[in-house]
Amino acid sequence: MAICVTPLDTNEHDRDSFDCGKEPLNNYFKKVAGQTNKRHISRTSVLVDDASPQEVLGFVTIVMAKVETSDLPGNLSKKLEHVTAVPLIARLGVDVKHQGKGAGGRLLRHALLEMIKINESIGVPFVVVDAKDGAEDFYLNYGFEPFLDSANRLFITMNDLLSNFTDSE
Ligand SMILES: CC(C)(COP(=O)(O)OP(=O)(O)OC[C@H]1O[C@@H](n2cnc3c(N)ncnc32)[C@H](O)[C@@H]1OP(=O)(O)O)[C@@H](O)C(=O)NCCC(=O)NCCS
Repeated sequence: MAICVTPLDTNEHDRDSFDCGKEPLNNYFKKVAGQTNKRHISRTSVLVDDASPQEVLGFVTIVMAKVETSDLPGNLSKKLEHVTAVPLIARLGVDVKHQGKGAGGRLLRHALLEMIKINESIGVPFVVVDAKDGAEDFYLNYGFEPFLDSANRLFITMNDLLSNFTDSE
């Protein structure tokens, strides 16, 4: 049994059976993720087991998002004042049958390693996430920090990503 993260393929992956327990996230995955992928607005990757590659264990979606650097803490707001857009980990969900077994962490690490790769070609000063439904602690565990003026928007700098993550999943 080998678990891997792979780009969403709407012909291959069974979206209808996916249930992470949060209806807005389920709806996004079932009805929107394929469309926004096609239009190059977002990228969704899925976690699958190669023993049943059509079954989606979890998914993560990355988009570009506008940011207000004045809400970054300390001297980061000054250092990064000209930054207007950065990658946002917009959605992350794990099927209820597979929660609590490391799948969410695996998907998040995959997304962050992608950011490290993209940083080589276009420069990514930091990455943001909007933690929903009390999931802030999940991201704090991975080194994210809160923005000053937002209850659930968190960020991690590329410098911190480079120190915290190695190139293994
Ligand atoms: C939040 C979610 C993605 C986590 O995925 P998961 O596969 O259950 O999490 P993992 O098993 O990889 O857990 C990794 C770590 O995060 C912790 N964790 C998991 N869910 C958490 C939560 N909601 N809040 C705080 N910590 C959490 C785990 O205890 C674990 O910590 P440990 O490594 O110290 O043991 C998943 O529970 C989910 O899809 N929930 C419903 C949708 C949702 O709330 N998404 C958040 C989008 S912002």
